[in-house]
Amino acid sequence: MEERIKSLEDQINSFLITSKDDLEQYRLQFISKKGVVGLLFDELKSLTPDQKKLVGKSLNELKKLSEEKFKSAQDILDSAGSEKSIDLDLTLPVTPNKTGSLHPLNLTRYRIIEIFERLGFNVEDGPEIEDDWHNFTALNFPENHPAREMQDTFFVERPVRLESMPGEQSGGNSDMLLRTHTSNVQIRLMKDRKPPFRAIMPGRVYRNEAISARAHCFFHQVEGLYVDKNVGFSDLKQTLYHFAKEMFGKETKIRLRPSFFPFTEPSAEIDISCLICHGKGCNVCKYSGWVEIAGSGMVHPNVLRNCGIDPEEYTGFAFGMGIERITMLRYSINDLRLFSENDLRFLKQFKQVI
Ligand code: PHE
Repeated sequence: MEERIKSLEDQINSFLITSKDDLEQYRLQFISKKGVVGLLFDELKSLTPDQKKLVGKSLNELKKLSEEKFKSAQDILDSAGSEKSIDLDLTLPVTPNKTGSLHPLNLTRYRIIEIFERLGFNVEDGPEIEDDWHNFTALNFPENHPAREMQDTFFVERPVRLESMPGEQSGGNSDMLLRTHTSNVQIRLMKDRKPPFRAIMPGRVYRNEAISARAHCFFHQVEGLYVDKNVGFSDLKQTLYHFAKEMFGKETKIRLRPSFFPFTEPSAEIDISCLICHGKGCNVCKYSGWVEIAGSGMVHPNVLRNCGIDPEEYTGFAFGMGIERITMLRYSINDLRLFSENDLRFLKQFKQVI
């Protein structure tokens, strides 16, 4: 019996417990009543009192050893397991990550692009820091036009004289400015490439204006340009009519009012029937039933000529609309400043995914 006890002691010491399964295996083998140690205790009963005394002591020590090993292995496994196996219900839906949302001006910009892309317009881009020639001169602005004045335009200083631009006045550096409209991209497009053109040009523009609910020193426009043989005023009208219905709904009507821009002739302001009161009159449309959304017109022959295009061969229309204005109408927003204040309470409301 002594020998069996000795060999069991070796077995216990060398038993490797690295998992709960090992622990259970160990428990069955050595600890449970039917385990080897338990059986030895059963055998003990059949021994004489003297033998009992002798073997009993070593057997008790064996039992103690087996139980201690069990306890410490159990403690180790429990503490390791508590970090890993927190009760996880794998069927629970995940907590959604907080994702950002698109800025309302971007939502509108993407919608405008989507509408015009289907009409075959592609999207073009141009610089926000521009020279006088692309922003004014090429667009047929007379030398003394008020828009060129300091109170409307932000001029920027050019520290180092870069390569001169086409048509640029020589000397001085006050010919660089923050573009006052996206019409500069029309010029860049027409100068750089050959007609026909059918493009829209979204972007940020700057004007030296006091910030209020209705005006800001920067805002966004989308310029449109369609130049080809035989483009007429009816194309302009039909294109913008289609746009208004797609953007604001089938019931929307448009109205063209004669206007003036140096770079278009004839020129027209485009109004849409007021979305809020449907033409009855409200404070959004200042009780006129109409809201202005764009300036437009037939590209002035001088502009085509300035870009090396023969106005006898090609004609075209152009328009420019304010993205803020359209967004305000779309979502009934009444203060322009909200777009640039980054107030999350405002921005979070535009969860629409496009
Ligand atoms: N550039 C004009 C503006 O900023 C808008 C416009 C664009 C008008 C193209 C006619 C044609 O007001």
